[in-house]
Amino acid sequence: MQDLRETYLARISGAADQAALEEVRLAALGKKGEISLKMRELGKMSPEERQTVGKALNELKDELDTALRARKVAMEDAALDERLKAEWLDVTLPARHRMRGTIHPVSHVTEECTAIFADMGFAVAEGPQIETDWYNFDALNIAPEHPARQEHDTFFMHRAEGDNRPPHVLRTHTSPVQIRAMQDQGAPIRVIAPGRVYRMDMDQTHAPMFHQIEGMAIDKDISMANLKWVLEEFFTAYFGTKVKTRFRASHFPFTEPSAEVDIQCSWVNGQLRVGEGDGWLEVLGSGMMHPKVLRAGGIDPDQWQGFAFGMGIDRMAMLKYGIPDLRAFFESDLRWLRHYGFGALEAPTVHAG
Ligand code: PHE
Repeated sequence: MQDLRETYLARISGAADQAALEEVRLAALGKKGEISLKMRELGKMSPEERQTVGKALNELKDELDTALRARKVAMEDAALDERLKAEWLDVTLPARHRMRGTIHPVSHVTEECTAIFADMGFAVAEGPQIETDWYNFDALNIAPEHPARQEHDTFFMHRAEGDNRPPHVLRTHTSPVQIRAMQDQGAPIRVIAPGRVYRMDMDQTHAPMFHQIEGMAIDKDISMANLKWVLEEFFTAYFGTKVKTRFRASHFPFTEPSAEVDIQCSWVNGQLRVGEGDGWLEVLGSGMMHPKVLRAGGIDPDQWQGFAFGMGIDRMAMLKYGIPDLRAFFESDLRWLRHYGFGALEAPTVHAG
């Protein structure tokens, strides 16, 4: 018994790892382990013998068991120490720089405008950027000889010789979405349509691609007064201050009467301030929808009437965030994007008027 004890205690302290230790445990105390087999032999012994040998065997079993556990804990502690040494890191080091993108001002302002109009019950409608000339022009009562159709303003899609499909254009405004929304939803309807538009134009305040937001409300008793209220509510919410508007009589083929809308502003030391002073800045075109346009959208102009407006999104971004040059919007200059861009979590909020 003394031999057994010494052999196993030596093997326990000599075990190199947990697997070796488990082997020792099985060899001594497992079902077919040496100690277990000895226990089984107790039955053949005389009662006196059994008492002394049984007691000694049990003590040996307990002693080995304790030694096994202690060794296991020691091994686990050593392993942990090893890991702590290997995986040590200095949390006081400065963080590694990670590049973070920004939300483009056009996207941000589109979200802002959408939130404000949504608050007034306008849903969002969409249409394709490549339009047939019918949606972009004819349905909007723009006659074939209208100057806007001429090559110098409109990008026409190339047509191969003998291709007789109707001409397609890059839409020159978001107004074709008026027609599509009427066809899709009928009346009454209240929608806005933000999106990209294209014109052959390029200088400090014009780019060949820019963004508009179309607005349209059709019901039985819609008037210019509703248009004026909606726009004033919008400007006040957007700029976060009461903004006076000025409606100037104008002309669009798709509205009658038509008005261009200016907002109140002032120039202070070369800085534009919206909502104060006695200057005016043109920001959108609008009017009561022409009966022919309602009809093109499948709506009876004897029963329904509506207003529509179209506003430049890029212009609205420049005004609110003091961005001087429109062309920079589309140059993807990282320094510009970092400076004028918005954080992903800066969600647009609707200001109280
Ligand atoms: N579509 C016009 C433009 O691009 C704006 C407009 C829209 C005017 C709706 C009146 C009504 O200039």
